Amino acid sequence: METIKVLVTNRKGGVGKSTIAANLAAYLALQENLKVSLIDYDEQSSSSAWVKKAPNIGIETFRAEMSYQSAGMTLLSARSSLRKFSTGFDVSISDLTWTPNMAENFMHDFDIILVPTSTSKFELASTEIFILEYVLRNSPLISKNKQSIMAVPSRVEANFLETSISTNLGSLGMCHITPPVLRANDIDHFVYEDFFCVSSNAAISTYFCRFGAFVAKQILDKKRERAIPVSKLSSIYSGLGKGILILDRYRSNKKLAGMQARSQMQSMKSSEFIGDDSSSIPSFLSKQN
Ligand SMILES: Nc1ncnc2c1ncn2[C@@H]1O[C@H](COP(=O)(O)OP(=O)(O)OP(=O)(O)O)[C@@H](O)[C@H]1O
Ligand SMILES: [Mg+2]
Repeated sequence: METIKVLVTNRKGGVGKSTIAANLAAYLALQENLKVSLIDYDEQSSSSAWVKKAPNIGIETFRAEMSYQSAGMTLLSARSSLRKFSTGFDVSISDLTWTPNMAENFMHDFDIILVPTSTSKFELASTEIFILEYVLRNSPLISKNKQSIMAVPSRVEANFLETSISTNLGSLGMCHITPPVLRANDIDHFVYEDFFCVSSNAAISTYFCRFGAFVAKQILDKKRERAIPVSKLSSIYSGLGKGILILDRYRSNKKLAGMQARSQMQSMKSSEFIGDDSSSIPSFLSKQN
């Protein structure tokens, strides 16, 4: 099975890479039934720790061991981890802060590159330069590989006007701006605990599901183009015995909650959202304290 490889990166720190990597992994596993691996290239291991400590929804997490002895070794070790930890999954998501140590060639190994950014003018400009420099230097290969590069507006306020984001990226065929990821005012209730796509806060879940669906469409289009079959997800839960049924029910309830939140969204302004999700996590899925 060929894996669609997603890289979440930016050379700026603190832009939301790990939050988006962990929550996108959860969206793809819960809402799209994909078999997902999360590969953490960063020292802090924030995204993999989030997924490991939260209720088990079947995402496998890996910590990439990097060798920084030379540029060649850095690229070799990064590639080896990517190959090893992507094999056997529908999608792998890599969380990596981009540094000058990393050869640009590593970006060529991915099908989709997500670049989270705040919508402040400074950060948007720096993100735009990061993307444009890469695209200008590598455009023949990007076109040949049909690579998609997407800026992800991150930590966006609910009353934010999406049309107010203006960048030069839209003029490049392979670049997109995704739907925004909202700022969660109670972010510490999510970190290590829960995921945006199934939040009882309808604005958070609806916006995140829109973002997730946008990325999922790219993933599924790429699978279709290459005629890659999508694995049957339930097989990865074979070790859980009778837990499978409960997990399936949990997943379909959560999926339904996400769909309801989305349809609510169409008839409400974002300022009118209130939490209304009463479905609870079955005890065997709860994290161990
Ligand atoms: N959507 C969001 N809503 C609220 N807070 C957020 C959101 N996304 C990220 N944050 C917060 O912003 C900070 C940076 O986020 P995160 O760690 O995801 O960024 P990062 O790019 O991975 O950072 P680093 O460069 O340190 O790896 C964290 O405190 C995180 O909890
Ligand atoms: Mg991080």
